[in-house]
Amino acid sequence: MMFLLLLAGHDTTSNLIGNSVVALLDHPDQLARLRAEPDLIDDGIEELLRFTAPVAVGAPRVALEDLEFSGTRIPKGSRVFGMLISANRDESVFADADALDLSRTPNKHLAFASGSHYCLGHHLARLEGRIAITQLLERFDHLEITVPRNSLRLRPIVPLRGLESLPMRLH
Ligand code: HEM
Repeated sequence: MMFLLLLAGHDTTSNLIGNSVVALLDHPDQLARLRAEPDLIDDGIEELLRFTAPVAVGAPRVALEDLEFSGTRIPKGSRVFGMLISANRDESVFADADALDLSRTPNKHLAFASGSHYCLGHHLARLEGRIAITQLLERFDHLEITVPRNSLRLRPIVPLRGLESLPMRLH
């Protein structure tokens, strides 16, 4: 539990902030919208959670009995991983799922998974994300990544999805 609270709670939120900055710079129309309408931040963070998937895969579950899910047989004792990153781009749930739309509602994403193990820190994570992005936009008119966009690398840590580094110039 201490591992989860200290490390999983820190890395995940860093991923949300870094991934969100890149997503906003990749979508200047959405960035401009957020600057013009700061109240969009609440819906905006939900969309950034969906779109950037700071945790790509849920904790494994173990099948307690033989079962079938969406036509796939899952034998008793199997470990099952929920691909949150894929569920968050499910076209049958989200219209235009690959588009970043900061005003998307409803937005029933699975960035914090679902059920009895739903992320314990979700309130804190949402708050940190809102504060970080709001402050960044309030304090700086120009955000610029100082390395070529295609040189940004994800850290090879499953199940997390975050950047190794994000060198930026802010002014
Ligand atoms: C953007 C930030 C975060 C994301 C995307 C995230 C996502 C997740 C996910 C997907 C799970 C697994 C749930 C499952 O498989 O059912 C989880 C569990 C958990 N998270 Fe987070 N998390 C974030 C931030 C935090 C923070 C800030 C804390 C605490 C300070 C935290 C504490 C925990 C704990 C304790 C669990 C285990 C809950 C349980 O097993 O009952 N998380 N989180």
